[in-house]
Amino acid sequence: MKTENLPPVVGGPKKEQRLSLQFAKIAQDTSTFRSLDWDRSRFDIEFGLRNGTTYNSFLIKGKKTALVDTSHKKFLNDWIQLLKKEINPCSIDYLIVSHTEPDHSGLIGELLELNPDIEILASKVAIQFLANQVHRPFRSRAIKSGEELDLGENSCSGISHRLEFISAPNLHWPDTIFTFDYGTSILYTCDAFGLHYCSEEVFDIDQQVIYEDFRFYYECLMGPNARSVLQAIKRLEKLPTINIIAVGHGPLLKYHLNSWIEYYQTWSNQKSKGKNYSAICYISQYGFCDQLSQSIAHGVAKTNAQAQLIDLNSSDPQELTALISEAKAVVVPTWPSQPIGDLQNSIGTLLAALSQKQWIGVYEAYGGNDEPIDAIANKLRTLGQKEGFSPLRVKQNPDSNTFQRFEEAGTDLGQLLNRKQNVATAKSIDGELAKAMGRVSGGLYIVTAEQGLGNDRRRGAMVASWVSQASFKPPGLTVAVAKDRAIEALMQVGDRFVINVLREDNYQPILRHFLKRFPPGADRFEGVAILEDHAKGGPVLMDALAFLSCQVQQRLETPDHWIVYGLVEQGNVADTSTKTAVHHRKVGSNY
Ligand SMILES: Cc1cc2nc3c(=O)[nH]c(=O)nc-3n(C[C@H](O)[C@H](O)[C@H](O)COP(=O)(O)O)c2cc1C
Repeated sequence: MKTENLPPVVGGPKKEQRLSLQFAKIAQDTSTFRSLDWDRSRFDIEFGLRNGTTYNSFLIKGKKTALVDTSHKKFLNDWIQLLKKEINPCSIDYLIVSHTEPDHSGLIGELLELNPDIEILASKVAIQFLANQVHRPFRSRAIKSGEELDLGENSCSGISHRLEFISAPNLHWPDTIFTFDYGTSILYTCDAFGLHYCSEEVFDIDQQVIYEDFRFYYECLMGPNARSVLQAIKRLEKLPTINIIAVGHGPLLKYHLNSWIEYYQTWSNQKSKGKNYSAICYISQYGFCDQLSQSIAHGVAKTNAQAQLIDLNSSDPQELTALISEAKAVVVPTWPSQPIGDLQNSIGTLLAALSQKQWIGVYEAYGGNDEPIDAIANKLRTLGQKEGFSPLRVKQNPDSNTFQRFEEAGTDLGQLLNRKQNVATAKSIDGELAKAMGRVSGGLYIVTAEQGLGNDRRRGAMVASWVSQASFKPPGLTVAVAKDRAIEALMQVGDRFVINVLREDNYQPILRHFLKRFPPGADRFEGVAILEDHAKGGPVLMDALAFLSCQVQQRLETPDHWIVYGLVEQGNVADTSTKTAVHHRKVGSNY
């Protein structure tokens, strides 16, 4: 195994990021190039990373040679250099693109420059997308599930490398395909089964060390597509025994393979129990549909309700009818004003499959020539469906605020779907126990958090009473944040937040304000007196008794909350003549 350290690159606000590259043999005729991104602290807007990440690509040498995926653009020169050191790029016959997310496909353009004859194999949508991404002609083959590519026999090992492709849409991109090599029994899954964990350990030797990151990754990326995960696992059952799952992020899975797959199965079964799901439709490669639909799905999944993503560009009419008619909520993007082909058929099928009493949500795809959003919302309400959230309009290229707004709309929808279940859960706590739990009391606080600047600024706030000091040296505290709180996305490891302590003699107006039901994306501080730039991490309320500014160190998962542990960096008491507001409860089934 070889590791190469690269000079640090500068990324973000003057923070050096360590990058390195690793090349290792993983099986007969098969090796991996791993790009190690030690300090990456965020993935998508809602996903904070504790242990960096890696981008893995693979080289398979039969009679012919195939490369599976490339790397992130930030590894540009060094990745190409290492590739050249290990193989003449012109001798690579095929590039298999598992999906087109830039962290795996970021260097395809450069590879094509070195070897314009390489043939790219990917799903149909992925090839269309690449055409826009690389801006140059290339040889390509659109592959479908079940199709094969025979690389032939490696003359040294005598092993024949026959590859089969398995489509796995929505894991975690719409165009994802898996590849299985019958010669080595390695399954290449790219994002699926991966984890954001950077180390030079190529394999999953110690399961305990990486379990938390594996679980968190599933929650963030796969959980919103639990039904698609189960469909993909079903397809894998037809394969012979798998030896290695060669993932695109983190260590490759080899030593605990069955247990990792079982985790995916168990978690996805839990998430897709019953029929109380929302069907979130999108049109792949149209406008910003892909990412916007993912944000809505992520918001729904935060509430523990289910989300089923459906690509209107490539769905089977029968399957579409079943998924739409059985859904409790249907979310639809604006579609092109003159849809053609499969898309036109899917829209017809979708409209015909809607049923009464469904919740409906519409969002703008921002595709350039969309049917007006209000016209689509009206079309969807023909049978008396109810609005799950107000139409989500997009007036400019989506930024992180837009994604936050979409995520919050998804959360609102998920809460509607779960309403009955949550009331039942609260009632199910034994009366005496609930009363005894109610004797646990806390103070009253407003937690605030803020990130980004200018148009990209995102901020949030929540009322909290489950706040507790958790360490003396260094001073630290915990806040229990419900998994479906909007502010949760701003309280990832490394993020900062502020605890505003409310005063005993005057807390009601502030409490009332922050307990209002805010529409998705609303500025929760409108009409509230705040001290801007007073503390790192979030607004300080003018009427707070004290504030504590913290940085998140760890998060512990409970069934319905994240226990967020923050180190206190700064704090101040505004008025020593009064005490903290205390919250006494009757029962422990409510805050
Ligand atoms: C007295 C009181 C204490 C609360 N404490 C917490 C808490 O510690 N953690 C939490 O997640 N939510 C707590 N909540 C609930 C939410 O903070 C509140 O509903 C929230 O501000 C709405 O935010 P959302 O729109 O993100 O759901 C509390 C609510 C009340 C009334």
